[in-house]
Amino acid sequence: MSPESRPPEIAHAPHPPLTRYFADEAARRAWVRGIFNRTAADYTRVERLMALGSGARYRRHALARGGLVRGMQLVDVGAGTGLVTREAVALLGAPQAVIGVDPSPAMLANAVLPAGVRLLEGSAERIPLPDASVDFVSMGYALRHVSDLAVAFREFFRVLRPSGIVLILEVTRPAGRIGNALLKAYMRGVVPAIARVAARSSEMPLLMRYYWDTIEACVPPASVASTLAHAGFRNVGRTVTLGIFSEYRGTKPRAD
Ligand SMILES: C[S@@+](CC[C@H](N)C(=O)[O-])C[C@H]1O[C@@H](n2cnc3c(N)ncnc32)[C@H](O)[C@@H]1O
Repeated sequence: MSPESRPPEIAHAPHPPLTRYFADEAARRAWVRGIFNRTAADYTRVERLMALGSGARYRRHALARGGLVRGMQLVDVGAGTGLVTREAVALLGAPQAVIGVDPSPAMLANAVLPAGVRLLEGSAERIPLPDASVDFVSMGYALRHVSDLAVAFREFFRVLRPSGIVLILEVTRPAGRIGNALLKAYMRGVVPAIARVAARSSEMPLLMRYYWDTIEACVPPASVASTLAHAGFRNVGRTVTLGIFSEYRGTKPRAD
């Protein structure tokens, strides 16, 4: 069977260990948690400047496109400083319907959110919520930090009610060589320079360099989609905006 005709694989690790940052997969989790903790106070400002999550407007539109509507309850996984979380609150009009989960206590401590939003320490692989307790799971720009995508997607499936929706936002490499070279130049050159000027933490440029390296090394979109389907999601699809902003979506089947 040629590589092209091979079915997409179930993805466990989102990328192989990037050994210039940590020795192995076991060390990766502590490294990621540590660097987000130490750069948390700068995250929102630098993210706004580089706008590669393309800002509040994109996040809100992506949630709406994904099917988030009033009356739903949502958990935002990898909530960080709450950039997706706060757009969910705006759409739902109900802070008490929104929960943010993140492994970094410092990222959560730097979140500026309306009173009523619950913030919990946890991870995509271990969400501190009961089975079938939310209608919508969002995860923005944290896919590349998860240890095991298959475990995380089963966890998303577990906490969703029947007919619930998962929406994963991530930056993915453009298909063409020129687009890829342009994004790489921006991420390798411009973004670390912005981080050097705008951030107080000396580690922010390193985090931004790691950002690109994980995008480059990430498993292909077809593997993310097949891993969602393997976890039990139906109607799995991916939409791409401007060639780099991927939105993966799936629904939990209705209970019969
Ligand atoms: C690039 S920030 C994204 C924050 C926010 N969602 C946004 O849209 O800006 C990535 C976040 O993922 C978190 N993270 C790292 N490992 C994770 C895991 N295994 N599960 C969930 N979140 C994780 C980090 O602590 C960090 O807050």
